[in-house]
Amino acid sequence: MRRVYFDNNASTPILPEVFDAMRPYFGEHFGNASSIHHHGQETRAAVERARESVANLLGCRASEIVFTSGGTEGDNLAIFGLTKPGLTKPGDHIITSTIEHHAVLNSCKQLEASGCEVTYVPVDGHCLVDPDDVRRALRKNTKLITIMMANNETGVLQQVEEIAKIAAEADVYFHTDAVQAAGKVPINVKQIGCDLLSISGHKMHAPQGVGAVYVRKGTILQPMLYGGRHERSRRAGTENVPGIVALGKAAELAQNALQNGEVAEMAAMRDQIENVPEWQRRAASPEYHKHLFRLHRWRSAGHCARPQGTRRLDRRGVLLGSNRAFSRAHRDGTLARPRPR
Ligand SMILES: Cc1ncc(COP(=O)(O)O)c(C=O)c1O
Repeated sequence: MRRVYFDNNASTPILPEVFDAMRPYFGEHFGNASSIHHHGQETRAAVERARESVANLLGCRASEIVFTSGGTEGDNLAIFGLTKPGLTKPGDHIITSTIEHHAVLNSCKQLEASGCEVTYVPVDGHCLVDPDDVRRALRKNTKLITIMMANNETGVLQQVEEIAKIAAEADVYFHTDAVQAAGKVPINVKQIGCDLLSISGHKMHAPQGVGAVYVRKGTILQPMLYGGRHERSRRAGTENVPGIVALGKAAELAQNALQNGEVAEMAAMRDQIENVPEWQRRAASPEYHKHLFRLHRWRSAGHCARPQGTRRLDRRGVLLGSNRAFSRAHRDGTLARPRPR
């Protein structure tokens, strides 16, 4: 059966150029990037080139990039790195939203279990966080705001610049999970004004198991792993050189695609698909990102917001993700009525 893959937010295929770039680091260039001999220095140079590429994609210095094992680790490093005992105390406060990925939501739950207080800001009928809700949630002892840049299921882009301003005015750290945004919309961390931002390789045509976090210069981040002084003591462990090289290459390709109109073409294709009369687009936020389209109802196949709809389509060769962010927000009663605009 011919299968059509529409689930690139779950994972993307590795691009041939990315695979070609990483391949030598499985074989001839196998050295440990911490070794001071030739083989080590060769892989060290490759890691640092990749760091430059990722930094270029995000608009920061190479020294502000920390490589990780992916988005989950990046989100955990950002959240726990800023809230470890010593940096926070029981009763300290964190603000997040109800529609974050589990990497953020479950980290926040864990913080609650260790005595921090967490406010889960709701979203409106367009799946948008109102920055004023974030402002109203601030307390004297708020330590961190973590709100995602693009949602993995609805594609809605949050107003992260505005939220970053609110955080800066209150002297609170701001982290954004940009796993679904990186490579698909332009990102400039300086323009956003965030302190931390996490990305993941396998959402942008690099392999699964590699990612990066932007950590603004001067941010005091406690490591989660204890070991060597890798990644300037922010993330211990021998680097995943092939993965990092692949992420660097994917970052270069993504930057080209953003500049040469490929991403805009993708947006046009998405619009075409969404406008197929039988496929009804529901949530109509103008601010959702270019790669994500939402098939809420396929008349003959059922509702894709439910797993059974997704499974039914799978049997016909159409591979979709199911839409749980809205469902979860509905279930939890945190999806507010659309506000008049
Ligand atoms: C928004 C978001 N954050 C974090 C993650 C976790 O990333 P990873 O799969 O690299 O651990 C995902 C993965 O689906 C995601 O969509």
